[in-house]
Amino acid sequence: MPASPDVPAEAWSGVHRGPLREGEWVRLIDQKGRKHNFELVAGKRFFSNKGHLDHDEMIGRDEGFTVTSSAGGQYLVFRPLLSEFVVSMPRGAAVVYPKDAAQIVALADIYPGARVVEAGAGSGALTCSLLRAVGPWGTVTSFELREEFAEVAKRNVDQFFNAPAGSSHPSWDLRLGDLKEGLPEIEGQVDRVILDMLDPWNCIEVVADKLVPGGIVCAYVATTTQLSRVVETLRAHGGFTEPHPWESLVRDWHVEGLAVRPDHKMIGHTAFLVTARRMAPGERPPRKTRRPAPGAYGPDYTGPRPADLPSPEPVDTEPGQ
Ligand SMILES: C[S@@+](CC[C@H](N)C(=O)[O-])C[C@H]1O[C@@H](n2cnc3c(N)ncnc32)[C@H](O)[C@@H]1O
Repeated sequence: MPASPDVPAEAWSGVHRGPLREGEWVRLIDQKGRKHNFELVAGKRFFSNKGHLDHDEMIGRDEGFTVTSSAGGQYLVFRPLLSEFVVSMPRGAAVVYPKDAAQIVALADIYPGARVVEAGAGSGALTCSLLRAVGPWGTVTSFELREEFAEVAKRNVDQFFNAPAGSSHPSWDLRLGDLKEGLPEIEGQVDRVILDMLDPWNCIEVVADKLVPGGIVCAYVATTTQLSRVVETLRAHGGFTEPHPWESLVRDWHVEGLAVRPDHKMIGHTAFLVTARRMAPGERPPRKTRRPAPGAYGPDYTGPRPADLPSPEPVDTEPGQ
């Protein structure tokens, strides 16, 4: 079979084809399923509880082979996939898990050439998926408040995309600072804004000012209280479509002969997602014909109120009433 040519460098995919080379990262999986990621360096050895392996045994071979260590351990060798890289790379802040990154790319509709803004960059996990999706024709501007996290993100993203020393993915602009202050300074409008931070509701006003009509804001939040607040803030703003909140649950299956059943273990919770689309300037979404559930915005509710909802009657709190 003729050798496949490498993926064009101008695609910035972070992927190589062909034989493994020095300087590339590999992922070894042992017979118990444990993973080991390291960079191939000529003359170096990988040590484990099953003896050692010479990197030179792997350099020059096509990925997808089994090597045997000096003490008889067997290891599967592949290049790491993006979904594998982000869960094993060094972390500053918690990362967006691959199942959620996939949802964000699909449902926030990140496309080649899109102008995307995200905050915070954290460890750079979501950044890798966003850059992959926009490609060299788009832009990803990542805001990060904390310098130490920005440095981790830069190292991870540069490593994933095999950026030559001193450079980064050409579509990436990593900015240190608060999205609320930095977003208005970006030239022109943007197509998508992804918010992965504690208080996305505080960014909705600046996001609304920057998004193109039809643009999408997507927030990734860990708790129900955050979810409620960001959804209600979007509604209260009035210039977005009805927010769509959801979560995704992925359940692996055990399939072995007649034993076919869900896996006993699964990741129960990562975070909730919510998307909404920006209306054109001055436009409002249609009024809902269905009324909110009784009590939904009653006297006990203290959060932001939908733009078209009358204020509740004041409650008499005199003692004895
Ligand atoms: C959970 S982490 C983001 C993880 C990242 N999405 C990833 O996949 O690796 C949240 C990050 O948001 C940053 N952050 C919080 N508020 C911010 C703001 N207003 N502007 C920019 N960054 C912010 C925090 O410093 C933190 O690093």
